[in-house]
Amino acid sequence: MCGIVGYVGKKDAVPLLIEGLKRLEYRGYDSAGVAVVADRKLGVVKTVGRLSNLESQLLRQPLAGSVAVGHTRWATHGAPSEVNAHPHCDCDGRIAVVHNGIIENYHALRASLEAAGHTFYSQTDTEVLPHMIEAALRDGAACLGDAIRAALTQARGAYALGIVSADCPDVLYAARQGSPLIIGIGEDGDRFIASDVPAVLSRVREVIYLNDGEYAELRDGGVRIWNIKGDEISPKVERVTLSAEAADQSGFETYMLKEIHEQPRVLRRLLERNPLFGGGADFGLKPDYFRKLQRVMIVGCGTASHAGMYGRLLLEQYTGLAVEIDLASEFRYRDPRIDPGTLIIPVSQSGETADTLASVRLAKQWGCRVLAICNVPGSSLTRESDAVLFTEAGPEIGVASTKAYTAQQMAFALLAIWIGSIRGTLGDADVQSLLAELAQVPDAIHYVLDRKDLIRVIAHKHCDAPSALYLGRKFNYPTALEGALKNKEISYQHAEGYAAGEMKHGPIALINEYVPVICVCTKTRDEVYDKMISNMREVEARQGRIIALASDGDTQIVRFAQDVIFVPAVRDDFSPIVNVVALQLFAYYAAQARGTDIDKPRNLAKSVTVE
Ligand code: M6R
Repeated sequence: MCGIVGYVGKKDAVPLLIEGLKRLEYRGYDSAGVAVVADRKLGVVKTVGRLSNLESQLLRQPLAGSVAVGHTRWATHGAPSEVNAHPHCDCDGRIAVVHNGIIENYHALRASLEAAGHTFYSQTDTEVLPHMIEAALRDGAACLGDAIRAALTQARGAYALGIVSADCPDVLYAARQGSPLIIGIGEDGDRFIASDVPAVLSRVREVIYLNDGEYAELRDGGVRIWNIKGDEISPKVERVTLSAEAADQSGFETYMLKEIHEQPRVLRRLLERNPLFGGGADFGLKPDYFRKLQRVMIVGCGTASHAGMYGRLLLEQYTGLAVEIDLASEFRYRDPRIDPGTLIIPVSQSGETADTLASVRLAKQWGCRVLAICNVPGSSLTRESDAVLFTEAGPEIGVASTKAYTAQQMAFALLAIWIGSIRGTLGDADVQSLLAELAQVPDAIHYVLDRKDLIRVIAHKHCDAPSALYLGRKFNYPTALEGALKNKEISYQHAEGYAAGEMKHGPIALINEYVPVICVCTKTRDEVYDKMISNMREVEARQGRIIALASDGDTQIVRFAQDVIFVPAVRDDFSPIVNVVALQLFAYYAAQARGTDIDKPRNLAKSVTVE
């Protein structure tokens, strides 16, 4: 969603802001803007659309200065427009604010500010903030920091903020409540704020993760942090372990293609480094907890929820635990019978998804322990959980999740095997054989990647169809859902994923000669293989175009399918980790043929930090 970059130091700020905002483009946005302080004046430039529009406008209307904030906006309150773009200013145009999140009580705040004579221009919730700071200063706040604190004590909701003022030309303020914000420590006194680390990865090697309820004052060479009560806090500076290249495109035509190709390496590293069987890092929850455990509740959104569905099947099979999965956006509004003995497993790439975080906070109120599966160190989710299994996939920039998904699947496989070994539902020999077969998955994915040219041909052949249906069963039902989600996200082709057994209960009505039906029917010992073949026969009888995803060596499959994508045969339990890579490539090449913006699909945001 929205992105923030701010700078204070000795350098010209605007090029640094643009560089950082470009690295945040993947989060999704519809307008952008910057505010720069120089000579006790505030200059603001905002444009609708891509950052290139902002760059062009800045050529016509240059801003120079070394204290500045920049923003990319993903519209929530008010349409995408120049006037609604951030930064927003106070009545005198001396204070500028950029904001991620939502100020929930902005209606009431705006009404009272308007009654007090403040003039508003936008439809945004954000605009109340500069006016509240202005009002606090008029009411006698001793300094800008005190005025910001006074404003924040009245604001309800979520925010990450960057604030500059023409009257305090050497400082940049930042604040956080419920939306991520980091402070970057660069060379030569450079200080940055950013929505996430990749934005400033090439400029900083140390960061401070601002906590909820904290605000910070950044100067050339200095950072001070306070809590909302005004108590000063000593900053915890952490080394950045990611390399700058981790967030680069490395010669691939898109980030998504790069990330698809990174999967064998990511999964090998996860197998080696995982704290359960591998590196021995502190994992957070002790084995005895898992021995006594009765029940597990998995929550996540989008792709992460598909990983959770796969995880449930593995946990049920290997551990004998009662396991449920729900969409975080539904779970938080249900009235589930959750007791303190239930382990909550939130799954999230970003660790900032609003619904997932809300579910975790609820579960903690109920006294549950929380074990997160997450990709981003320092994210809200990792800080609010009792234990974290990191997916170690590195920055995922493409909006459509790929390597984070297969890493989540692998993390679930490791977790389920580990819990099974602790609870004695898996014997030593089972554990060794499962781990050995899991270790074959990265190589199998390599083979899928080697076949991408064939997948491209098949994807191009079917990419003009009005709609596509994805079918799978058991372990590969989530694969069907994920394949369909990838397709609709990046190619904008309507696509539905279904449990194949449900086909006769409705979706079969959609099938005709124009509809590709992608059937995931890989097998080794799979008891659902024959059922999938029956479903394919039913599609065939209605002239549907069958594309089968089948295991190498399956000689009969060609009889039932118009096109076959063969993938290496791996154990059925682990086949979804391999199969989904073929579907990622299938969606990718369909999108390529349809000419969409693959890394930044329309309307989507990488990290959904609001409800
Ligand atoms: O960061 P998260 O894993 O919590 O994000 C959850 C979903 O928003 C995300 O998986 C989304 O569905 C992706 N665009 C899928 O490609």
